[in-house]
Amino acid sequence: MNKIPIIMDTDPGIDDAAAITVALNSPEFDVQLITTMAGNVTVDKTTLNALKLVEFYHKDVPVAKGADKPLLRNYEDSSYIHGESGMGEYEFSPHQRREIDLHAVQAMKEVLEKNSEKVTLVAVGALTNVALLLMEYPELKRKIKELVIMGGSLSSGNVTSAAEFNIYADPHAAKIVFQSGVPIVMAGLDVTLKALLSPKSFETLPSLGRSGTMLHSLFSSYRGGTPDKGLQMHDVCTLFYLLYPEKIKTEDLFVEVATEGPAIGATVADIQRKYHKNPNTKVCVDIDVDFFNQWFLEVVGKIG
Ligand code: BDR
Ligand code: CA
Repeated sequence: MNKIPIIMDTDPGIDDAAAITVALNSPEFDVQLITTMAGNVTVDKTTLNALKLVEFYHKDVPVAKGADKPLLRNYEDSSYIHGESGMGEYEFSPHQRREIDLHAVQAMKEVLEKNSEKVTLVAVGALTNVALLLMEYPELKRKIKELVIMGGSLSSGNVTSAAEFNIYADPHAAKIVFQSGVPIVMAGLDVTLKALLSPKSFETLPSLGRSGTMLHSLFSSYRGGTPDKGLQMHDVCTLFYLLYPEKIKTEDLFVEVATEGPAIGATVADIQRKYHKNPNTKVCVDIDVDFFNQWFLEVVGKIG
């Protein structure tokens, strides 16, 4: 089987932890690098959390620390959703792992350069690292197969009326990324607020072994939804898209990012196609939620 080479740019974060679980344990993916940034919690914490997860799964995947703040605006975290550490109350075993001695952007550059085939970038945090990469090394755009983003929304936001957290966290970076010409898939709130981990799936997790028990503990203190109504699995949708694109409905649209005013961080799509003939983004608009739950439990169950 030809594995999909990926770089994961992430800010763990509880749904990030679920996404990293899937990426590291699905035979279809070849995770070559995990990069971090300031997002749900500070970059020191997101890096530590990524290292804890790589250690938890005993994987040999490098972690590189990236941006400690957005390009222009002030940093605002999301610890009210993910807890002070970003990993709820779960106690990971002590370990000696360290991040590599390269900034995330340099590490991404090296991975893109050394691969003869194109690499998929899975970006599930603020887009600061990705924007820096595209600005500093525009010649590497051709090495990116596609950029699958968790972020944005065609309607309302989850951090302000208009903006989703990852785009709001660094709207200037997001603007650069959406204007870059790199093929973009946007898994935003339009699908991620539908793709909830059901109460039944949540209850099943501890019976699935060590990984399910860890995820159950993380999701127990997560404030993105509730265990009895459903938990928001935002970042996991990017990997689901890569494996099962036929289970997600998409629309090709031109998307721009607002960088000022009350709509700062909003992704504005030209749905009427009045201003832009050529779309720049494949926007995910619907998802097979039952299949998504079944698949997620299967992946976790196989880890044991
Ligand atoms: C996004 O914001 C973060 O809190 C989550 O990890 C996800 O990437 C959802 O808006
Ligand atoms: Ca995230």
